[in-house]
Amino acid sequence: MQFNEIQKQIIKLKKETDTVILAHTYQNPEITEIADFVGDSFVLAKYAKEVKAKRIIMCGVRFMGETVKILSPDKEVIMPTAEALCPMAEMIDPKDIVAFKEKNPDYSVVCYINTTAETKAVCDVCVTSSSAIRIVKSMNKDKILFVPDKNLGSFVQKAFPEKDIVVMDGYCPVHNDLTAEQVKEAKEKYPAALFTVHPEAPAEVVELADHVGSTSAIIEFIKNNPDKQIIIGTESGVYNNLIKTDKNPDRLIQLSPDIMVCEDMKKITLESVLSIFTENTGFEINLPEKLRKQALVSIENMLTYGD
Ligand code: 13P
Ligand code: SF4
Repeated sequence: MQFNEIQKQIIKLKKETDTVILAHTYQNPEITEIADFVGDSFVLAKYAKEVKAKRIIMCGVRFMGETVKILSPDKEVIMPTAEALCPMAEMIDPKDIVAFKEKNPDYSVVCYINTTAETKAVCDVCVTSSSAIRIVKSMNKDKILFVPDKNLGSFVQKAFPEKDIVVMDGYCPVHNDLTAEQVKEAKEKYPAALFTVHPEAPAEVVELADHVGSTSAIIEFIKNNPDKQIIIGTESGVYNNLIKTDKNPDRLIQLSPDIMVCEDMKKITLESVLSIFTENTGFEINLPEKLRKQALVSIENMLTYGD
């Protein structure tokens, strides 16, 4: 691979300083190219636990850095900027969950991994988009509060019509903007194409999909269907990275490219990564130990229930 000058400096400096760079799959290729590991939020956190290096730079949004810190408290976890937040994770106030639990003590609280440490700390089980259905099934509970994503929540509700699942009204501003009309238009233009979508999209969009899955599941689906034209209904980073490696990149179609951009993910730049080394910038994730331990419970339960 041909690296540019900034990339070369970062690669040299990370080796010299025992630093590992993790990047979420929504990052631009210039960032994923310098990362030691690229993946979805949960895979990144699991990988971080195995990493020998003492310092981790997390190229993603804040909750991803927090998840790494919750699982690996002895490591120094640095975000290139404090500004990269997931708007959906910020939509929920943990006090609302506590108030709900006080009024409804017989409900279990399931939270999406896209939540702050404070929210995870007051929930029972954490899930990812790929494990939500499997975990809700194995929990064997009839009354559930699902936070914060209304779309992933309604996807889970549909899978268990017999359960009482209350869903909060958070959403991902990127995926929630997709419409059934946009999908129908794309399908008309590419009639042979399969359509894959993230469950953070609204129900009427998900209904039109040939495949629904998390970021990693979408990538796997695309790789497992190398001869198919595929319309991709998730954040543009997935498409931008795949067209660099796919044998036949023209077969890949980004649905609604203008809106499928997570501005927060794109706040990570090569310059912001480099200046962690050269100017000691960046935002270190530090969680009070009591909060970390409380948040860890919901993540450990996720592992117990089978992610
Ligand atoms: P993953 O958990 O699949 O990485 O998704 C994170 C996310 O922000 C989806 O929009
Ligand atoms: Fe959050 Fe959506 Fe961005 Fe994912 S794509 S980090 S859910 S705002």
